[in-house]
Amino acid sequence: MHRILVTDPLSEQGLMQLTGAADVEVSQQIGATEDEIVAMIGDFDALLVRSQTKVTERILKAGRRLRVVGRAGVGVDNIDVRAATKAGVLVINAPDGNTVTTAEFTFAMILALARHIPQARASLLAGKWERSTFQGFELRGKTLGVVGLGRIGAEVAKRAQVFGMQVTAYDPFLTPARAEKLGVRGASLLDTIATADIITVHTPLTKETKHLIGDKEFAAMKPGVRILNCARGGIIDEAALARALDQGIVAGAAFDVFEVEPPVGNPLLGYSQVIATPHLGASTEEAQVNVAVDVADGVVRLLRGESYPHTVNLPPLPSETRAALQPFMDLAQVLGSLAGQLLVPADVRSVKIHYEGDVTSHPVDPLTRSALKGILSCFQQDEVNLLSALLIAEELGVDVIESKAPRTAGHPSSIRVTLQGTGGEVTLLGSVTRGHGMRIEEIDGYPVDVAPTAAMLVTWHRDRPGIIGRVGSVLGLAGINIASMQVGRREEGGQAIMLLAVDRPVAEDAVRAIRDAMDMDRVTYLELPC
Ligand code: NAD
Ligand code: MLT
Repeated sequence: MHRILVTDPLSEQGLMQLTGAADVEVSQQIGATEDEIVAMIGDFDALLVRSQTKVTERILKAGRRLRVVGRAGVGVDNIDVRAATKAGVLVINAPDGNTVTTAEFTFAMILALARHIPQARASLLAGKWERSTFQGFELRGKTLGVVGLGRIGAEVAKRAQVFGMQVTAYDPFLTPARAEKLGVRGASLLDTIATADIITVHTPLTKETKHLIGDKEFAAMKPGVRILNCARGGIIDEAALARALDQGIVAGAAFDVFEVEPPVGNPLLGYSQVIATPHLGASTEEAQVNVAVDVADGVVRLLRGESYPHTVNLPPLPSETRAALQPFMDLAQVLGSLAGQLLVPADVRSVKIHYEGDVTSHPVDPLTRSALKGILSCFQQDEVNLLSALLIAEELGVDVIESKAPRTAGHPSSIRVTLQGTGGEVTLLGSVTRGHGMRIEEIDGYPVDVAPTAAMLVTWHRDRPGIIGRVGSVLGLAGINIASMQVGRREEGGQAIMLLAVDRPVAEDAVRAIRDAMDMDRVTYLELPC
């Protein structure tokens, strides 16, 4: 049974998506505090929130069985995504469900700004009849500057065109082809804001976009410009906006989101030219149903091991790609795990992973993550999974270098994992073929051909007669059966290795007995997983 905790209000349809699933148990604790969530999260596999719950590092660390955090909506700024990644918890959102709703809301704000609708209503209710005070302007023929031409920005641009506006847009990822398709003029940030009559921001709030519009940008705007923020508080520097209003650069502003929400005591609310709403952009019945249904469906699918396209901290993997890659992910993890156990001393500084053959026609990121999971699990107490593996490697200062080569005729797809430490290096090569499954083909350049098993032994020794028999008899005395064995050597009588798959764990004293009996350089017992 998958246990899901919901801590923010979700639409009925979204909840039904959960309660209707036979393998899901839902607990609603709407408005639970951080302390309360920390106390109970250990019993849940998933946490489902909107924007009220702050999903902190404390909550994520306390979530011993937590696998997914679902955000019913787009912005994940209320979730500590880095801490989730480190804890191996997948963060998902529902980015499509409220796009149109929020674009329509932004357009309502543009119209309200152009025609002073909120101010006129307030004046009327105050018993006044001020027709000339609230004279507005037409949108037709004006220029809209869109900063951030993603899902919502593009929908706003389309609506502006229907109103006869020209649209200029700044987005670092805007290609000329997309600009042409949307009928907008792509421009720099400064050009966009300097030529616009109305500016609207639709970026996420990130380190780069925090105060993207500040004093310098206001100074470049046309006097009398109108500006909107229906995206995230903080993209426009509120203190700089107040200065621009005082200087008459900005004639009107419409804000749905604020640096601090609710915006108690926010000086912007004191300006008659500023219209403001309490983060209502996504608040329509349709959008709330859409995002709740989407994210609830995503959480259930992921808990069942299926795929969901809107994963925030792991690139989504369509199920067909996953099916094609799974045998290679298993191989990469096995090679990583064996290499991690073979590296002496065990202080990994760099990991090189080389992919060869047809496997390179797929994204190799999941394979690299699998190899790192195998390697790091040998050294880390906490569980390492595909999500956390890259971040943990980065935090440990381990360089991860990927390379690829196309297929060589007659060779199956292969993966070579090389670990470098301060005092040594180890390389393993493996392959997967339909007929033979997973094979270890090389250890440190010595050719072998063994299917990996749960318990294995590797010996490093000088090639000479009698070695195989002696090792077999020491293992026999210890009651251990050999499933398969391979000797790899470069030349007769030279350095050699032997790889044995055995049916039972080999105790430390048996390992020592083998090494001493044959005066071997090294004997290492390997387990999968390590
Ligand atoms: P999106 O990811 O589809 O689009 C964001 C766009 O911003 C992308 O095209 C990206 O390239 C661009 N961008 C990123 N950094 C930029 C930068 N430095 N300068 C210019 N552009 C940059 O997201 P979306 O679904 O369109 O949502 C946009 C914003 O609206 C988000 O902040 C989201 O949280 C917010 N939002 C608010 C409400 C609300 O209730 N007010 C509702 C939904 C979404
Ligand atoms: C979002 O990011 O989806 C919106 O801001 C709406 C919300 O917070 O629920």
